[in-house]
Amino acid sequence: MCPDAPLVLGIETSCDETGVGIVRGEALLADEIASSVDEHARFGGVVPEVASRAHLEAMVPTIERACRTAGVALRDLDAVAVTSGPGLAGALMVGVASAKALALSLGVPLYGVNHLASHVAVDIVEHGPLPEPTLALLVSGGHSSLLLVPDVTHDVRSLGSTIDDAAGEAFDKVARVLGMPFPGGPHIDRAARSGEVVLDFPRGLTTGRDMQRYRFDFSFSGLKTAVSRWVAAREASGEPVPVADVAASFQEAVVDVLTRKAVLACREHGVGHLQIGGGVAANSRLRAMAAERCEAAGIELRVPRPGLCTDNGAMVAALGAQMVLRGRTASELSLPADSSLPVTVVQS
Ligand code: KG4
Ligand code: ZN
Repeated sequence: MCPDAPLVLGIETSCDETGVGIVRGEALLADEIASSVDEHARFGGVVPEVASRAHLEAMVPTIERACRTAGVALRDLDAVAVTSGPGLAGALMVGVASAKALALSLGVPLYGVNHLASHVAVDIVEHGPLPEPTLALLVSGGHSSLLLVPDVTHDVRSLGSTIDDAAGEAFDKVARVLGMPFPGGPHIDRAARSGEVVLDFPRGLTTGRDMQRYRFDFSFSGLKTAVSRWVAAREASGEPVPVADVAASFQEAVVDVLTRKAVLACREHGVGHLQIGGGVAANSRLRAMAAERCEAAGIELRVPRPGLCTDNGAMVAALGAQMVLRGRTASELSLPADSSLPVTVVQS
């Protein structure tokens, strides 16, 4: 670790995780998380007001824990970074206001950064500098995007995204149909391991005119409906629902489309590296199929460990440190939280 590298604290509050990470240059020193996920479980989805309140309560203790883990004091920080969007407006505001207060009181620069670019940047603390350009597949509860990333600190281009449900959202909805708790992705992943891919569910936007028009876009809503209908018909017939097989077949359909389009995007854009990030990147079948298909196509695959794929503060600190290292101008203290910040705007 380089002792002169910038020490940056990153704050993430775009959804239900209060994340505080500390990095020195490209080295991760702390990654502390307080999640309100249990408070949302009974509603079957994240309740924005509940999330905002939980961020408020968790913020100071999580910052203190991160400093203790990293063995640093707040006065040692060289910069503060924060997710300024996209995400839940009230939740983002808690993070942005906290980061402003911290930066102002310490007299250090503030960087308001894009949540999605942070999901890409986090891999730097795991696998070193990002190859430029990198192609990134971002799959979370709120987003499914294919990005061409020439420079994660200021040039992120969208090749395609979901036209309806995000991949994680589809996992959560199908899990609900199968009677699993929220968030459902990890439960489907686990159930699928003891199931077999015996049901042929639809792969949206992968054939004919759809594929031409929506080459790098995704659609999971038809798949979700097909699974719901199949399960409802099975229940109506009085036969037991083969939960593991349905989970495995649904998961296979999602993962097949994601990896197929990601590898195609790498080929067509002449990019030799694929990075996968976002909560769904924790999926074991996605990781395995991406590894197989990338190897067959001669593409180097980079996927951070599962804990860095889901929302966390380390990703924000990692991107903030890159901003400092590349001499990017800091954000204004009037920086707003922008719930619909476009993926192409890396810094606000
Ligand atoms: O990136 P993330 O933590 O938060 C958002 O920005 O949305 O992603 C959360 C999403 C949820 O939909 C969750 O079900 C999904 O990631 N997820 C998974 C797995 N672990 C988390 N989906 C499939 N398989 C998993 N192992
Ligand atoms: Zn995320």
